[in-house]
Amino acid sequence: MGLRTIRDIDLKGKAILLRADFNVPLKEGVITDDTRIRAVLPTIQFILDQEGTSLILMSHLGRPKGERKPEFSLMPVSERLSELLGRKVAMAPDCIGDEVKRKAEGLGAGEVLLLENLRFHNGETKNDPGFAKNLAELGDFYVNDAFGTAHRAHASTEGVSHYLPSAAGFLIEKEVKFFAPLLEDPAQPFVAVIGGAKVSSKIGVLESLLKQCKTLIIGGGMSYTFLKTKGHSIGNSLCEDEYLETAGSLLDKAAEKGVEILLPVDHVVADEFCESSEALLINSSDIPPGKIGMDIGPKTVELIQSRIAEAKSLIWNGPMGVFEFDPFAKGTIQVAEMVAACQGVTVVGGGDSVAAVNKFNLASKIDHVSTGGGASLEFLEGKALPGIVVLQDQE
Ligand code: 3PG
Repeated sequence: MGLRTIRDIDLKGKAILLRADFNVPLKEGVITDDTRIRAVLPTIQFILDQEGTSLILMSHLGRPKGERKPEFSLMPVSERLSELLGRKVAMAPDCIGDEVKRKAEGLGAGEVLLLENLRFHNGETKNDPGFAKNLAELGDFYVNDAFGTAHRAHASTEGVSHYLPSAAGFLIEKEVKFFAPLLEDPAQPFVAVIGGAKVSSKIGVLESLLKQCKTLIIGGGMSYTFLKTKGHSIGNSLCEDEYLETAGSLLDKAAEKGVEILLPVDHVVADEFCESSEALLINSSDIPPGKIGMDIGPKTVELIQSRIAEAKSLIWNGPMGVFEFDPFAKGTIQVAEMVAACQGVTVVGGGDSVAAVNKFNLASKIDHVSTGGGASLEFLEGKALPGIVVLQDQE
């Protein structure tokens, strides 16, 4: 199945309706991380470089649940975009309606209009056909570059494609280019480093990765459930008892397939789950009673290092410990550094590991840092993402 991209289309003289994922973190109205805005700039620039095009941008921000809430306005994004593009990005009063339509129709060549938050209307998340049609009326051609929202079948990611010719932007193309081979035919050895708090949210990803990877490294909060199912003591560490059986059967499947599973062999623990609690090193897979596992230990780091050093392709998703607390961030920092130094193709996906990579200024050393949180997980699970399916030519 081929992805239609803006490269394949004659955009000249057209009004382009572009869905982006401008769901950026804000603190008191100020954008604290503009990565998602920057990630769409190549597509925006390409569209504006075509003769006579005008651009109507649309996105959601947060979850205002169909209500017009000022704290979810996209105004700060229009300001940031204006700075980044060096041209005015006008802010529309809403995303549908007569006034918005007049503004979109009135755009001259090279002019840009940003629609107000799509989720101020319930029609967006309900994928209401009438709402999708209203959006489609604003342009001649639909481009989707919102990878971060591609797992949602919403009006602006799926519905609108039924009313306009459509294609993917460069960001979606790039995300697919890096993620798809990991599921199909990754360069071997393929090493997956999966962390984060919960088995329940990653089990689909782990199952899917088992099909292709040589080594599956499991760290972070969810590793304690795996250790417990293997008979290790885990003290007061996080554990999803209802997932013990699932974790056990994943280990069995891995053994059948000859996939190596690497679990922590030593730990950094604490008495309490807080930053000020003293960090204590436990030189064993077993955690003593009363202690809470907070990070992986140096022996585990060494083992991970040996596998990452050999990897020809690598995915990292999820921190190795409670990295938001400085005393327990070491394992995650070291894994981030190893991923950055890996000679194979490296992909980092998921909100927390991306935050870690950015926190330690390593993003430029990684081949692909995904803009998708939930979307990258669903992609790795092998699920079809509705926002991408509609951009593919069925052969
Ligand atoms: C994200 O931040 O993961 C995307 O923008 C999707 O947001 P949502 O989970 O609110 O649909």
